[in-house]
Amino acid sequence: MTAVVAFVSQKGGVGKSTLARALATLAAETGISVRLADLDWKQQTAKHWADVRAKSGIEPPVDCRVYETTSEALADAKDVALLVIDQPGYASGQTAELARHADLIIEPTGPSIDDMRPGVLVLHELAQSGVSKDKLAVALFRVATPAEEKRARAYMGEYGYKVLDGHLPEKVSLRQLQDEGHAVTETRHGTLRGPADTLMAAMLDKLKECMSRAPERSNDERQPVRARERAVDRSR
Ligand SMILES: Nc1ncnc2c1ncn2[C@@H]1O[C@H](COP(=O)(O)OP(=O)(O)OP(=O)(O)O)[C@@H](O)[C@H]1O
Ligand SMILES: [Mg+2]
Repeated sequence: MTAVVAFVSQKGGVGKSTLARALATLAAETGISVRLADLDWKQQTAKHWADVRAKSGIEPPVDCRVYETTSEALADAKDVALLVIDQPGYASGQTAELARHADLIIEPTGPSIDDMRPGVLVLHELAQSGVSKDKLAVALFRVATPAEEKRARAYMGEYGYKVLDGHLPEKVSLRQLQDEGHAVTETRHGTLRGPADTLMAAMLDKLKECMSRAPERSNDERQPVRARERAVDRSR
């Protein structure tokens, strides 16, 4: 059975693509067969990054494909153990459907109230639509100081959603690293790596916990492909 992790948010620019790329890279490094599904078929942020990575010969390569729909990404994932889905922002309709089929839904958020408030609303919507709170987790993105992290944890924690340990530090050097085709976790800078590694480890632990609860089901049961939905793998 393919494990499915989806990065979602209503708000744009809160770290979906960054963290999806980091998780796919980490999985590939550890020998897990993984695909990064770029559902943001207009921006194709993840796909462009994977192409830069491949052109620069950075190991391990990350298999990234572009899809228009969740159904297509899931139907194409039978050959991998892990599917990491990078969703576009402002996709409320799609998010509810995706959440039903994902084993773990990660909502990244910046530490400002501007970012966290809409983040909480999306989580409420998902929970109200029947998605188990146990499948939902928040990842803190672009945190500048320990005080900022503490404040963000206190705010998100009030709503009872799991906030993953660790965070991605706010750093120009991490942004540049990613522009060159690396994952943000591929920095050699120990003080940046520490909180980012903690975050990635927390994601993997949460996924293991979700998978241990997931009922056995095949990919076919997970999502039948509708004939009219044609794959848009722009990489081919
Ligand atoms: N550690 C970091 N510090 C500062 N900036 C960062 C860091 N990591 C990523 N960024 C930048 O933050 C911006 C938003 O990140 P990202 O593209 O991952 O968000 P997103 O949620 O996928 O956005 P969208 O909704 O447009 O798809 C990008 O410009 C990215 O380069
Ligand atoms: Mg994105």
